[in-house]
Amino acid sequence: MTVIVVGSANLDRVCRVERIPGPGETVLATASAEHCGGKGNNQVIAATRSGASASFLAALGSDEAGSTLRRTLDDAGVTSLIRTSDAPTGIANITVDDSAENSIVVSPGANAALIDLTEAEHAAIRAADVLLMQLEIPVETVIAAAEVASAAGTYVVLNAAPIQRLPERLLRHVDLLIVNEHEAAELAYALQSDRQQGDPREAAAILAGIVPDVIVTLGAAGSLIVSAGASPLKLPSYSVQAVDTTGAGDTFCGALVAALDADGAAVRDLVEATSFATAAAALSVQSAGAVSSIPSLKETNDFRDQHEHITTS
Ligand code: RIB
Ligand code: NA
Repeated sequence: MTVIVVGSANLDRVCRVERIPGPGETVLATASAEHCGGKGNNQVIAATRSGASASFLAALGSDEAGSTLRRTLDDAGVTSLIRTSDAPTGIANITVDDSAENSIVVSPGANAALIDLTEAEHAAIRAADVLLMQLEIPVETVIAAAEVASAAGTYVVLNAAPIQRLPERLLRHVDLLIVNEHEAAELAYALQSDRQQGDPREAAAILAGIVPDVIVTLGAAGSLIVSAGASPLKLPSYSVQAVDTTGAGDTFCGALVAALDADGAAVRDLVEATSFATAAAALSVQSAGAVSSIPSLKETNDFRDQHEHITTS
């Protein structure tokens, strides 16, 4: 299974707080740390640690954060297709509260320079089994990459985070859409503006009218797999003690694509891949940081052997 991730890399500046401040408020952090992050970076590392052979097309600054991210990617065994930009490496300012919830502000920096893909970059997309993307790079680049991939039969997976309005043209090139409840609702009701916001099943059903398969992640409640023409399937999660949920969604996406069958859409087992990804994400929330908490294939397999899915309705 070969995966190419086209996406963002950030230096995460994390403050632990008792509670996330509201507008106009100042709070004192109880601890602070810097970690490698960025949705693209986290996802490519999750795919690699989960056993995929993965490459990463991204843009970094020629600064210390960029060097640290490059080194971490090399150590993880990711094939680098990284551009060096004049702009500084992307920064994410993150606060994590005592209930493991977070809020994140990203300053894109070099990520915004990932535009105008070259012929060599197109060739790398065509050569991969799976293209995995998020929305922390310019959306024109996401559209261009999706077009190249779908014309070449590369399976296109889009994690529509952070959410923004997307042209239907982009969604038509996507084979698998991975969104949380909030993102599912935003996307679905932007397409059908006359609809009231309903439950995630309804939102996913609307999206499954355009994208063949949609996975809605429901946090501790597991996930929902909605495929065109089939009844939705609810997959439960695991009961774990969450310390930091930053990057859990990224771990889920990266692990999931690694667990897809190499022949792509025709023979993949989406339920098995989702189940594997759920276990990887459950492991990741139990320790701090994004990249630092992403489990290996062995850790995820051992966890699956040792833990039952909690059953939800
Ligand atoms: O999804 C988590 C990631 O979002 C963090 O690593 C941060 O960099 C932001 O991109
Ligand atoms: Na974590």
